[in-house]
Amino acid sequence: MLQTFSTMAWNEPFSDTDKRQAIENLENGRILFFPQLAFSLSTDEQVFLSPHYADPHAKNISYHPQHHKLWGMRHLTDQQHIQLKTMLDRYSRYAYQLVQNLLPHYAPQLTVARTSFRPVQITGRKTSYRKDDKRLHVDAFPSAPNQGKRILRVFYNVNPHGEDRVWRVGEPFEKVAHTFLPRINKPIPGTAALLRLLKITKSYRTRYDHYMLQIHDHMKADERYQQQADQQEIRFPAGSAWIVQTDDVSHAAMQGQYLLEQTFYLPVHAMQDETRSPLRILEKITGQCLV
Ligand code: SIN
Ligand code: FE
Repeated sequence: MLQTFSTMAWNEPFSDTDKRQAIENLENGRILFFPQLAFSLSTDEQVFLSPHYADPHAKNISYHPQHHKLWGMRHLTDQQHIQLKTMLDRYSRYAYQLVQNLLPHYAPQLTVARTSFRPVQITGRKTSYRKDDKRLHVDAFPSAPNQGKRILRVFYNVNPHGEDRVWRVGEPFEKVAHTFLPRINKPIPGTAALLRLLKITKSYRTRYDHYMLQIHDHMKADERYQQQADQQEIRFPAGSAWIVQTDDVSHAAMQGQYLLEQTFYLPVHAMQDETRSPLRILEKITGQCLV
């Protein structure tokens, strides 16, 4: 499930063999794991290792590297606001360098999306089942349809007390799709246009987005599935990074505090083998074009 790299710097070059295996593994639903990558915080930044600055109404503290916009935080002085942005901006650039060096084939096609910081302990966090990432799911965003693009994420466990981030990782996407698609209704004609018109979605919710969102919700709602689906625990130690395509790797975050995460979007035509994408897998099963 994991391909481990001995990389010690975010801008380190990779051998051709590493690059070939990385793309192959990623596209086959495996996780690229970097146990020796360090992301150090300055003394000013260490202050942010506290749930104090997280807005309890938001899921995470988020940053948009392109627009330099920060949200989901509270209680920051003006100076701290800048310091937190600087820290997340640095993480975003490091994550991009890593992806660019390891997956050069993807790099020109990537869209740099949100950066997030998750300072709240997962265990015991109460939320609605749809928002509960302690349940196995594939990622799909209700208000930000991605219209078939892959979701590639670079995570870093920045916990200062040596606490692992503990995940469960579930079945391959094709199996998930075969289990849940039969339970899902087709999209109601006109809904996507209405959601867009009312600005509930930031872009048009394609049939692909409809199915992905429904799979996400049905997975989380099914208690029996949560317990009985094939799954394994993976522990990401403090001070480690990992890259995963969270639209096809079924995952649940069970425990841990203080995570950095950078999201990228990738069009399926940039993949080495786009038949491995959730888009093409769902199209094959439904016999329809979904975007
Ligand atoms: C998720 O993407 O579902 C949660 C990942 C994490 O917070 O570790
Ligand atoms: Fe997720």
